[in-house]
Amino acid sequence: MMNQIQKIEIIDGSPTDKPILMSGGNYIKEGSDPAKSTCLIFSSKMADEVGTLSNYLQLFAKHKVNLLHIESRSSLRQPNGYEFVVECAPGGNLSAVVEALEKQCEYFSIISRNYKDNLGTVPWFPRRIRDLDKFANQILSYGNELDSDHPGFTDSVYCERRKYFADLAYNYKHGQPIPTVVYTKKEIETWGVIFRKLTSLYPKYACKEHNHVFQLLIENCGYSENHIPQLEDISNFLKDCTGFTLRPVAGLLSSRDFLAGLAFRVFHSTQYIRHYSQPLYTPEPDVCHEVLGHVPLFADPDFAQFAQVIGLASLGAPDEYIQKLATCFWFTVEFGLCRQNGELKAYGAGLLSSFGELQYSLSGKPELKPFDPETTALQKYPITEYQPIYFVAENFDDVKEKMIKYAHTIPRNFGVTYDFYTQSIRIINSKHQVEKLIDNVSRELQILANALRKLKN
Ligand SMILES: [Fe+2]
Repeated sequence: MMNQIQKIEIIDGSPTDKPILMSGGNYIKEGSDPAKSTCLIFSSKMADEVGTLSNYLQLFAKHKVNLLHIESRSSLRQPNGYEFVVECAPGGNLSAVVEALEKQCEYFSIISRNYKDNLGTVPWFPRRIRDLDKFANQILSYGNELDSDHPGFTDSVYCERRKYFADLAYNYKHGQPIPTVVYTKKEIETWGVIFRKLTSLYPKYACKEHNHVFQLLIENCGYSENHIPQLEDISNFLKDCTGFTLRPVAGLLSSRDFLAGLAFRVFHSTQYIRHYSQPLYTPEPDVCHEVLGHVPLFADPDFAQFAQVIGLASLGAPDEYIQKLATCFWFTVEFGLCRQNGELKAYGAGLLSSFGELQYSLSGKPELKPFDPETTALQKYPITEYQPIYFVAENFDDVKEKMIKYAHTIPRNFGVTYDFYTQSIRIINSKHQVEKLIDNVSRELQILANALRKLKN
């Protein structure tokens, strides 16, 4: 049986208008970025001076730079200070503005998606969870654009159905409930075939975390052979377990955008189901792959943390590292094996949603290597057949620690951390921020030390 997942990667980091199948990444295409805006963050040397912002705005007007968004906020870098965030439209003499601001400001930073031409700047990436809404506009291939060899290519009813799902996802915004789908009889029958086949294998082949959570999904989210569970129910379940949520996706995302979602503990999920003519084959991820393969693991705290580590590492990483991280994602989240009580088990969603490859991967035929991000990230692999090599993790905590160490080797001139209270990414590039974080950590340590004392008594 053919491998069920398509993989696409970035060529030389250059966005290509025509998506190209490549090695690396998960249902990922690199699209052109229609929004070439640049964000500037700056703070005045004279923090409280009246009219400061209007002086700056005159500077933009003078150099004919149009602003799309203006925001003032408390500075994270200077105690009691303010900073301004402005989003500039393409055009005008932006370099003259940059030159002037650099001279005048206490703090100045450029955020741009045009990474290669802005060395030394902080690249654009989503800072707030609602920024993920912007990804919907960066999808090149809409969900109903099927290739000529797709099992549903000549089925106009199926193509129409795929457009329905693509529209649902395209119009989705952060904070909304994921639309409930009434699946057709044919779709439920297709699901039933897959559900019965795979669940007969899980007790023997799936890792213990998958089997443990699967029972909870049956009890809490309506997993059964006669019912395709709703993404909204699953997302709420995951949120309670690990803070992960699902977000419907209309088409193919770039590796960079897909991995960025993980930094927020957001997993982009398809909602449609494969064509009924070949229930045990799909050329792309579908709801079966997502909810049977991926979802159970995202309910595990160690695995969830591991996935977020990959996501955080990807933010602002150079393009070649995005490819490496996508490859690590491939050999873990998609096709990972692990050792439990001396036995090999599968935890990768590509295996746990593939009747054939799940058995093959544990048959003793393929080559096995220990997971090590340095070497795993460079491993080539085929995309239309079973994997000849699988990487074996000792446990999720181990792969997480290895990924954290690997992330430190990614060249970035700033650190990132996730703020769960505000659901936003914090860029750490000032001493003041580091001091505040150390304060927070020491408070946490005091709580732990206090709890430990009580346990001893
Ligand atoms: Fe996947």
